[in-house]
Amino acid sequence: MKIEGKDCRALWLENSIVKFIDQRKLPYKLEIFSAKTVDDVAFAIKDMVVRGAPAIGAAAVYGMALGKKDLQKTAEKLRATRPTAYDLFYAIEYMIEQITNGKDEFDAATKYVEDIVQRCKKIGEYGEKLIKNGMKILTHCNAGALATVDYGTALAPFRVAYRKGKDFFVYVDETRPRCQGLLTAWELHQEGIKHAVIADNAAGYFMKNGEIDLVITGADRIAKNGDFANKIGTYEKAVLAKENDIPFYVAAPVSTFDNSIEDGSKIIIEERGRSELAEINGKKVMPDWTTVKNPAFDVTPKAYVAGYITEEGIIKNKYV
Ligand code: MRU
Repeated sequence: MKIEGKDCRALWLENSIVKFIDQRKLPYKLEIFSAKTVDDVAFAIKDMVVRGAPAIGAAAVYGMALGKKDLQKTAEKLRATRPTAYDLFYAIEYMIEQITNGKDEFDAATKYVEDIVQRCKKIGEYGEKLIKNGMKILTHCNAGALATVDYGTALAPFRVAYRKGKDFFVYVDETRPRCQGLLTAWELHQEGIKHAVIADNAAGYFMKNGEIDLVITGADRIAKNGDFANKIGTYEKAVLAKENDIPFYVAAPVSTFDNSIEDGSKIIIEERGRSELAEINGKKVMPDWTTVKNPAFDVTPKAYVAGYITEEGIIKNKYV
């Protein structure tokens, strides 16, 4: 990702310390969070210093490297941070295997991270072919470099298309309650890609008015049959896209595909706390008597997906 002309990543290793762009502070402040221990990494994942499935996986490999001495305990601690993104569990298993086979922990972790970056670049190269000049494209949440270390999943095709000189426009869902859409807008702004943030409930309006030609989102976990979990609100966008004859694509690397579950009904959906809805920037916006429900993800059935943009190519969905 570009930040004021410089290339930058969402997280990196520096002298055995994991450095994160603190996504809780963006887009207002660019601050770095340093994690020196497994507990620091676990906190960074849980408190959403780092967000997005592949980036959470990258944080986890470094966490496993820091906690190599007590591998099982470290794995347990990291697994308990967030339940939905499959990359977290995939990354932990990868590190257990590497360390058990005598590989250097930091080398193995760095290899994993470099690999994810290359996979996302490939996703960009394949996905870019879907983008035609003049297109208006909707995305939900943040599936950019911040969510994946670099390039992004859903945002990688935008980066590649833009760098090739294609002209297109991106509609960015605000994505309440954590406003990951602002992270997407921040990334697109840094890159110079034309975009507008829209309220979460505005997508249907734009689709019906012929303002959206294509939808691309990321995924947090994809079941064997193609059902997938992504940020809350994705399902309704997919239903609206089908109703309006707009192709809906999911972009994700291999680390997000969970072949151990047959379909989306088996995906555990994280429930997050009350304050995410009842407060904005620490200020109460709801009276104390309000009860809230705050699922962080939803599951979209495969029937709404035109195809999956992966590092190995675009898999067209035969059910659509
Ligand atoms: O709760 P978050 O911010 O970690 O969730 C991130 C997402 O759900 C994104 O939508 C993304 O598409 C999946 S990761 C590239």
